[in-house]
This record gives sequence, structure tokens and C-alpha cells, in this order.
Amino acid sequence: FPPAMTARPLAGRTVVVSAGGTREPLDPVRYLGNRSSGKQGAAIARAALAAGAAVRFVAAHLETPVPAGVEVSTASTALQLRDAVLAAAEGADALVMAAAVADFRPATYADAKIKKREDGQDPVITLVRNPDILAEAVARRTAGGPGTRMPRLIVGFAAETGDATAGVLEHAARKLASKGCELLVVNQVGEDLVFGADSNDVTVLAADGSAPRTFSGTKDEVASGVVAVIAEALSR
Ligand code: CTP
Ligand code: CA
Repeated sequence: FPPAMTARPLAGRTVVVSAGGTREPLDPVRYLGNRSSGKQGAAIARAALAAGAAVRFVAAHLETPVPAGVEVSTASTALQLRDAVLAAAEGADALVMAAAVADFRPATYADAKIKKREDGQDPVITLVRNPDILAEAVARRTAGGPGTRMPRLIVGFAAETGDATAGVLEHAARKLASKGCELLVVNQVGEDLVFGADSNDVTVLAADGSAPRTFSGTKDEVASGVVAVIAEALSR
């Protein structure tokens, strides 16, 4: 049988999955965060394990258990996640960036708890850009050299809403092109929030022009679909 048709199509492969959401600290007791639960990423990791892969799991503030059988590392901030992901991705076959990475972090971290101001003025928080981890993995792979054995299959996730200028899939196709990764798993978000939910509806876009694939159902069902696409792509 061709590899994609066996029961364990990812046997002998190493897959890195990031999951959860980063927190960007303002002071010792406060942070900027997001509502990613890590459930979809954990489901991808379980599906990859079931398909026979060795899984390196990079977890940021999960609201769901770490899947049994993965090699786990943890990160809190985007900068920590970047280091953990790039280290785990070295020499792996696929990288799946399911984590919600904060695009910005507070420009300064206060070592002591920020107090209300005596003069009654409201505080202003200045933000700076975080590195784009996915784009950095792609760039390292292109650059070549030591520390750059990045996976040949890099998979992004995107939660999109349509807007006045374009629909969900149009925005997603642009994001896929600008990130330079091989696959983009697109979630349509809106009124009925995906965050923390147990079911999901995704379309997988491929940079090589293969037809988009849609998967719906529980996060485990969606994960099996996404992992099947990954196995198929790695078998080519
Ligand atoms: N991502 C990343 N590093 C970041 C931001 C995002 O690696 N600093 C990854 C996410 O894990 C995800 C993909 O990039 O797999 C797309 O994230 P998304 O937030 O949809 O894209 P952005 O490029 O940040 O664009 P936007 O301005 O729409 O948020
Ligand atoms: Ca973003």
C-alpha cells in the first residue's frame, strides 16, 4: 500500500504541535491573554500519535490535559513559545502551529505591581510586536545552515471572519501566501465562538494548489481529517 493508506501513515515521522494561548505579562500579577483553550491542538497531537507519529507538544496555558504519550515542553509568553517551537521543530517532519500567539506584548514589564496613579490619570499601555514564529520557521528553512533543519511541512492555523473587503477564504488564501507555509487550517469565527467549544468546522488550504478540504464535527474528528491531509502531503 502507499504510505497514506496504511493504518499508521505517520509511522517513523516526528510531528511538532503547538497548542494553547500565550500570556504577555504587564506586571507580576497581570497579563494580556487570549481565549484559546488548546483543545484543537491537543486533538491534533492525539490524532498524530494515533497515526503513528512521535509528537513533540509545545503547550501554552492549556485548559485541557496534555495528551498522553507526547514529549512536552511548556511556554508562557510568545518569546518563550518561539524558542520552544524552533527547538522542537529542528529535524522534525511537520510543524503544526495551533497555538494562539499574541501579536503584541507590553513594551515594558513592571517588576512591581502597577498602582493606580495619584494624579488620577488613566494609564496607557504601549505594545510592541512579537516575532511571527511560523514565518520565522519558514524563513529559517529557506535560509539553510546550522539550526535550520525545519520541517518540510509547516501548517498554520487561522481564525478569520469575513469583512467588507473579502470573505473568510479570500483572507485565508492571502494569509497562506504571505506566511509561506504549506497548509493553512482555517476556522470561520463569528457570533458562535469556536474558543473552548468541543466541535469545529475547518477548511484546509494548500499552497501547492490542491483542492481545499473541509472537515466538520468534534475537534477529534476535525483533527483526524487534518492529520490525514498532513500524512498525505508527507507521503508525496
Ligand atoms: N503565528 C505565529 N506567530 C505569531 C502570530 C501567529 O506563529 N506571532 C501563527 C499562529 O500560530 C497561526 C498562524 O500564525 O498558526 C496564523 O495566525 P493569525 O493570528 O491568524 O495570523 P497573523 O499573521 O497574526 O495575522 P492577523 O493580523 O490576522 O492576526
Ligand atoms: Ca495574529
